[in-house]
Formats: sequence, structure tokens, C-alpha cells
Amino acid sequence: MKASKLTIGYTEIPRNELTAEWKQLLERAIQAASKAYAPYSQFNVGSAILLSDQTMVTGSNQENAAFPSGLCAERVALFYAGHEHREKTITKMVVCAVKKGELLAEPVTPCGACRQVMVESILRQKSSFEILLWGNDFGYLLNHAELLLPFSFDAGSLK
Ligand code: THU
Repeated sequence: MKASKLTIGYTEIPRNELTAEWKQLLERAIQAASKAYAPYSQFNVGSAILLSDQTMVTGSNQENAAFPSGLCAERVALFYAGHEHREKTITKMVVCAVKKGELLAEPVTPCGACRQVMVESILRQKSSFEILLWGNDFGYLLNHAELLLPFSFDAGSLK
């Protein structure tokens, strides 16, 4: 028997320490949250992705009366980037959530399915990307989004 431990590193970062590029991407994520279709949860999520040519792609959660048929903001943006910008590389991603008109106090943390899709995007483009999970005035910054999903299932598992 051998006990092991996995630890992940992240930085807690206040708004005034964000670079101009992160601030711009965060603003796009906040704008995206205002476009959410979330009549059931009233939980508006926005995500913004920066691509290698500086293009920004955004997404918001889109719900459905048949609950599993909706989609999270992260996957809306990731799938659109994969569809429309497949030759470009994702370099940064921001996620934020707005409830009752206010950003959540704590940084929003993506669901398991979105983490799985992030891992797929990283394997597909053969490089990692940074992710900023934003709260009201601070965020968690991870240098590698795949850190969010240790022991992930990937194509290698199918062999
Ligand atoms: N949601 C997201 O869009 N992203 C997350 O990271 C967490 C959850 C959405 C799904 C659903 O529309 C609503 O938030 C409540 O779960």
C-alpha cells in the first residue's frame, strides 16, 4: 500500500493586481453573464476566453425547462471557440457569476462536466490555458486549467 497526495497551486488575486488583459477579459465575462438565459436558477454565469490571436469569445448559461438540456456558460464559450476558431489556441479563460444583480462574493467554481470539457480542449490544442475564477473583488487564478480536474478521463483511457 502506498498513500499519495495531490495538491494544486493557485493564486488568490485581488482586482487591483489583475493585468490590463485580465481586467478586459473579466469585463467581457461580466457582460456575458448579463446575457444568460437562467429563468429557473436566476444564477447568471458568464465566461470569456482569450485566443492566441487576441480574439475574445464569450458564453453564458442557457437553461431549459427540461433541466438537463441547458448548458453552462463555460461550455457555451468552449464549444463556440472549438467550432468557430478551431485553428486558434485558448490562452486564458475567466468565469464569473451574478445573482440578484451582484457578483458572487466568492469565486465561482466550474462544474465537473465543464472541467472535463476544459481538459478535452487542452488535449485538443496540445497546450494548457490559464483560468481565473472570479468573485466580487478577488479571484482564484490557476496557471493550468486542467489542475481543476485531477484523474480526468481522456482519450488515453479509451486505448
Ligand atoms: N452554471 C454555469 O453556467 N457554470 C458554472 O460554473 C456553474 C453552474 C449554471 C448552470 C445552471 O444554468 C445554473 O448555473 C445553476 O446551476
